[in-house]
Amino acid sequence: MNDDNRPWPQAGYNRMIMPSPIAWIGTGTPDPEPALVPLMDDSNVFMMGDNPALPRMPERPTLIDFFKYRFNPIAVNHLLGSAKRAMDDGHNDKVIMACLLHDVSNGCFVRPDHGYWGAQMIAPYVDEEVAWAVKYHQALRYLPDPEVGYEYPESYYKFFGQNYQPPAYIMRDAQYAREHRWYMTARLVTMYDIYFFEKIEPIAPEYFSDVIARSFRQPPEGLGHDDSPSSHMWRTMIWPNNFL
Ligand SMILES: [Fe+2]
Ligand SMILES: [Fe+2]
Repeated sequence: MNDDNRPWPQAGYNRMIMPSPIAWIGTGTPDPEPALVPLMDDSNVFMMGDNPALPRMPERPTLIDFFKYRFNPIAVNHLLGSAKRAMDDGHNDKVIMACLLHDVSNGCFVRPDHGYWGAQMIAPYVDEEVAWAVKYHQALRYLPDPEVGYEYPESYYKFFGQNYQPPAYIMRDAQYAREHRWYMTARLVTMYDIYFFEKIEPIAPEYFSDVIARSFRQPPEGLGHDDSPSSHMWRTMIWPNNFL
């Protein structure tokens, strides 16, 4: 959505980007702060607000805008493909929405504990059962359930190695979810989550406009500009390069 005349922030300055610690800690990339801070002067400042290297978000972003302008292509295809399969199989809106949003945190936010983060991101805007399923799909991915035909994922052997043992909190939360009345909603997410490597026909996020209109409480101010408990997470995706 680049059809507006909003001025770019910090006009006249060179805008330096300080990468967030979670993106580089432990990777061998040195802490960028000691090198960047001394560069501040009359012409060099740290970036705040819209980054011209990214598509510009509308002033009132919708969920679909984040699919179009922020989430990475792998996440977009994976989420849309999972939701389409659930829809094609005739599942209800809650299951479709849980599939559509289950890896929302991986789209443009954080990967570790993505189910937990994703559930918090969407909780103010969706049915409680949808956020619950997003939270618990993460743990249930590790827990086979032969009764419904769910096995430990082949992809996890590839991702983590043959001998990987999930930590105690994952097994605790998987067992808790197994006994919960919403178990099958989260389980269905894991069952539509197995096509990570499979090529899917490209789908536009608008394919789900009707389900989203029925099931996602889009704030009139725009996601990230409302005052919900998770608004700041969406705002961080609008301005991921903000210094503070
Ligand atoms: Fe996931
Ligand atoms: Fe997934």
